[in-house]
Amino acid sequence: MVSLNNLQLTDLDNHRIAYLETIFSIANGHFGIRASDPVAPSSTSGTLVNGFYESSPITYGERAVGYAENHQTIVNLPDLRKIKVSDSDGALFAKSELLTSNLDFQTGILSQSYKLTNPTGKNITLTFDSIVDQADQKAGALKYEFTAGTYNGQITIGKSLAFNATVTESDDPRKARQITSLDITTTVDSNDQKELLIETQNSKLAVAMRLKALDGTLLEQSFDLAKGPAVARYLVCVSDFANELTPPTADLKDVTFEQVIADSKNYWQTIWNSSQIEIDGDDRLTQAIRYNLFQLNQSAGRDGKTNISAKGLSGTGYEGHYFWDTEMYLMPYFTYSTPMIAKKLLDFRYNTLDIAKQQAKTLGVSEGALFPWRTINGEEASAYYPAGTAQYHIDGDIAYAANRYYEATNDRDWLVEKGYELILETARFWSHFGHFHEVDGKNRFEFYGVTGPNEYTVMVDNNYYTNRIAKHNLHLAVRLAKIVSEVDPNKLKELHVTDEELEKFENIADVIYLPYNQQHQVNAQDDSFFNKPIWPFKTTKKDQYPLLLHFHPLTIYRYQVAKQADTILAEFLFPQDVGKDQLQREYDYYESITTHDSSLSRSVFSMIAARLHDSKQAYDYFMTTAKMDLVDLQGNTEDGLHLSNLGGSWLALTAGFAGMTFEEGKLHLINNLPQQWKALKFRIRLQDNLFAIELTKNDIDVKLLEGTSANVMIDGKWREITRTHNDQKILN
Ligand code: BGC
Repeated sequence: MVSLNNLQLTDLDNHRIAYLETIFSIANGHFGIRASDPVAPSSTSGTLVNGFYESSPITYGERAVGYAENHQTIVNLPDLRKIKVSDSDGALFAKSELLTSNLDFQTGILSQSYKLTNPTGKNITLTFDSIVDQADQKAGALKYEFTAGTYNGQITIGKSLAFNATVTESDDPRKARQITSLDITTTVDSNDQKELLIETQNSKLAVAMRLKALDGTLLEQSFDLAKGPAVARYLVCVSDFANELTPPTADLKDVTFEQVIADSKNYWQTIWNSSQIEIDGDDRLTQAIRYNLFQLNQSAGRDGKTNISAKGLSGTGYEGHYFWDTEMYLMPYFTYSTPMIAKKLLDFRYNTLDIAKQQAKTLGVSEGALFPWRTINGEEASAYYPAGTAQYHIDGDIAYAANRYYEATNDRDWLVEKGYELILETARFWSHFGHFHEVDGKNRFEFYGVTGPNEYTVMVDNNYYTNRIAKHNLHLAVRLAKIVSEVDPNKLKELHVTDEELEKFENIADVIYLPYNQQHQVNAQDDSFFNKPIWPFKTTKKDQYPLLLHFHPLTIYRYQVAKQADTILAEFLFPQDVGKDQLQREYDYYESITTHDSSLSRSVFSMIAARLHDSKQAYDYFMTTAKMDLVDLQGNTEDGLHLSNLGGSWLALTAGFAGMTFEEGKLHLINNLPQQWKALKFRIRLQDNLFAIELTKNDIDVKLLEGTSANVMIDGKWREITRTHNDQKILN
């Protein structure tokens, strides 16, 4: 029997330690603890604080003007779970075997049991609960319970805050570099409490970590197991990080063990109230999707100062950087379930807008903002601009997400206060960064030297995805200006927006060039894509994927080959653009040259296949995407979870199988339920309404759990849903 609301060790085939550290990691948007073995040394264990990074100068063989200056690397902090256990001779129980592991999605508690063995082969059992507070995000709690096994004498336990064993450097560009420039000061050192102040030398940030033993236990304490089990409970605190001028302290005064648990339970109850999801007919899949949503929630920064790293707080892969993944893969879920989090993620962009304006200037643009391709602090951290800064579609992605949040919530105050400025400054960037080009007597607006989402083709002209999202961005700046001035008549003036500027945006947007390939009758990924030969797939061996780890970039760039969805991602975002026949042609063509070397790929193919009613393809792609980390499909889950894929799996279910789209604030659904499932149930928040949706073979049932009434378009027909009777009147 599969349990739907928790993940157990027996659910997994891969039991490698570093992999399990990621899979069972726990976090609360502020800090995350990898689920390390509590006694054995590990080079990958540790604690990650969202946004706490060290910087170091990027060394270029050949430098050019405006290149990113500094690496930003998330700091792996002491592993809070580690404990030393020794026997009456002082010998360590250093060998351990994980017996059980249970991550409970409803309470947030990770419960595990281990067999610990000393050098003479005698063992004891450890039952170990770890939990992070979801209300007071600085706090966490740990409970260790030791029972006698073949050993039943005295044990001494010692708890400290120690950095993990040294890590070996790797050539894999997706892994983080090592940091050696930390200043560590012990600020509290008593029998029952220890606090470290950890300061970075270059980024000048500081965080404090504290451990506190409870119930009169000391940090080093002996117990006699012959008298019964020994229980040791600790509170942990990971402060907010601050700059060096105001060193933070880790205050545990108002925290209790019970409160940490209660806060966590309450939080998860609220989350599941708006995120409940079930696939009737496949319990394992339900479990996997709930796991994905659980991890998404654990990873999201909720303070407007931090975001969601590509690996969440589960690992140091991609150095803890935030990418476009947030806006295009993760925010849909938050926008339609916990919009407050979506708003905070956008606030992060707003709070870094000044840096983005500076970056636009670096790129030679006098007005507007260019957001970084990868970052923690708002500055560009990509040392390889062809697959970094050249992906300036990030601007359009942010504008798209800001509008999506606004339309889903009708939050006009936020739009006026922050959202519009994001859309305006990105629109300004587009208007200056592109060029008019006259072809056959007609002016078109084009973008040169660009890299689209498919990183296997770089620095080309007119990437379809980029041009399409730029067009949308400019149109949004015009359309939303009206709403902004209705709410606050002075706002546009304050932002120096003139009628002429809006007219300019409109004129540009109308003539942005969207490349089309006549031969294949498809939207073309870019101007030169179809001139290139197709990648030699037949002679590429299975173990040569992902291509980026086996071929020189210049080999890859000279072929038609895609790391991930690109043009068809644009079709997903703008469903009105192409008819079914063209969509089918594009799907077939681009699928044949896509390797899915990026974890961001499969979910998009699943959604488009569902839109094309190709149930088999949609289902097959979905099944690999849904369990990607649980089966370690990409082989690198030990570096951290593939967050975008977790978000992508939710998108594939809702926007793919349930055909969910939104038009003028109204929910539209289309039944694409695969035959393998009896039903798909999920919830969606839209403005004041919380919908419970159930797709079965022949129908889509929609109920309102919050709100009074709503019109929903179901399989092409409007239905009026009212809450009191939950009756659904067919309107046409
Ligand atoms: C993908 C990017 C993505 C990044 C972080 C890369 O492999 O190509 O689109 O933003 O991973 O997830």
